[in-house]
Amino acid sequence: MLSEGAVKEINDLTGKYANKRSAVMPALFVVQREYGYVTEEGMREVANILGLRPVQIFEVATFYTMYNKKPVGKYHIQVCTNISCSLLGANHIVDFLSMRLGVKVKETTPDKMFTLSTVECLGSCGTAPMMQINDRYYEDLTKEKIEEILKGLK
Ligand code: FES
Repeated sequence: MLSEGAVKEINDLTGKYANKRSAVMPALFVVQREYGYVTEEGMREVANILGLRPVQIFEVATFYTMYNKKPVGKYHIQVCTNISCSLLGANHIVDFLSMRLGVKVKETTPDKMFTLSTVECLGSCGTAPMMQINDRYYEDLTKEKIEEILKGLK
């Protein structure tokens, strides 16, 4: 069950938008923060709080890749593989991370520290190739830079 604080946060969102459907996306981020990923229970709770049908929540959660539908590691590494990043070596970045972490894309390391994902454009094309780890962007990536970044994640 969502905490009292999370329920209040979602309720408060409704006052910020002209209609309740506009509150679905930020409400799903609240659910993701609370549970670590967007659970079915969490989606039903959002529907209940916002007075919407569950399908109206499910369709949003399943459309966007930024909502995790299953548990992820402590560090969720999302490598952009869209056009600008691909042209500047995103696939090599993915292969390097996969080799370095010992997991394939969509997998989590056995110690639950890292999940590796590929995503569409993150809006940072000018600093490609890039990746997002949790809420932070890492740009102009090289293998050496990634080694330094991984060393800093404990
Ligand atoms: S193509 Fe990678 S951030 Fe836009």
